[in-house]
Amino acid sequence: MKSTLIEPRIHDDLAEFYTLWRDACLGKKASESEEVKFLLDIFASSSKIKTIIDLGGSAGIHAIPLVKHGFDVTLLDKSKIALNIAKRSCSQLKLVNESFEAINLNQNFDSSICMMSSHTYLLDNIDRELFYDWVKKYTNDLVVFDQLNIHRLPKSYSDNCQAEDRHFLFNVLREWHFEEDLLHTSFVYEFIDKASEATKIINDAQVQRFLSIEELIKYMGKQWRVVALLGDFNLKQAFDQENSPRMIAVFKRVSSKQTQILT
Ligand SMILES: C[S@@+](CC[C@H](N)C(=O)[O-])C[C@H]1O[C@@H](n2cnc3c(N)ncnc32)[C@H](O)[C@@H]1O
Repeated sequence: MKSTLIEPRIHDDLAEFYTLWRDACLGKKASESEEVKFLLDIFASSSKIKTIIDLGGSAGIHAIPLVKHGFDVTLLDKSKIALNIAKRSCSQLKLVNESFEAINLNQNFDSSICMMSSHTYLLDNIDRELFYDWVKKYTNDLVVFDQLNIHRLPKSYSDNCQAEDRHFLFNVLREWHFEEDLLHTSFVYEFIDKASEATKIINDAQVQRFLSIEELIKYMGKQWRVVALLGDFNLKQAFDQENSPRMIAVFKRVSSKQTQILT
């Protein structure tokens, strides 16, 4: 039976506020520049990377800077609103409005990246198989999967986080709990308009299925090898289940020249 799909509004009609949400959830402002530097370090380990697909790339947090670094970048996301925001800021970006579970793009890319747990929104095994089969078939050389390290999370918890931009103060109350292997999170967003001090409260929710490294390796199959398993956006920070904020797996196609990029 298919799991009930909850579409988080922050990726849909609230996508305009995605950067604020991201800053609040990560507890750092504009960490994407550090993440892009990290991706550039990964791509530097291969002479082949010219074309990149950002899978679940939202409004182009990574895709737009990568275009500016000279890569030919395609942004795939199921959110039309996020893609329109990305297009407004970067006309060279190629856009694909598709879902991972119904991906129908017949084009190869030197690298596929999937950042900030985008692949964890796939809740069903059949959908995941289809998605990872596509990634394996259509990626020439390197794949990066980045997700939160959930091993550090208590089984249920709530917290408050904040972010701000020029226009808004943004407070988020998060509550999450695990039901078997699904992480359910509910959000209460409070937007405070800095100019008028008007406040708006909006509820949101999401469900995610995080993968262990063993599961990712299984989905990626024998033609792909993990060349780095990292705990943060830093090639020197190996993944440590107890302490790392993230789990970032870098896969390389086995037929490519093998290099270990974790220094
Ligand atoms: C948490 S955001 C990550 C965005 C970006 N990669 C980043 O690093 O900030 C997840 C993104 O994945 C997209 N997404 C979620 N499920 C998807 C699916 N099944 N197919 C395509 N895109 C999906 C959402 O629309 C959203 O833009």
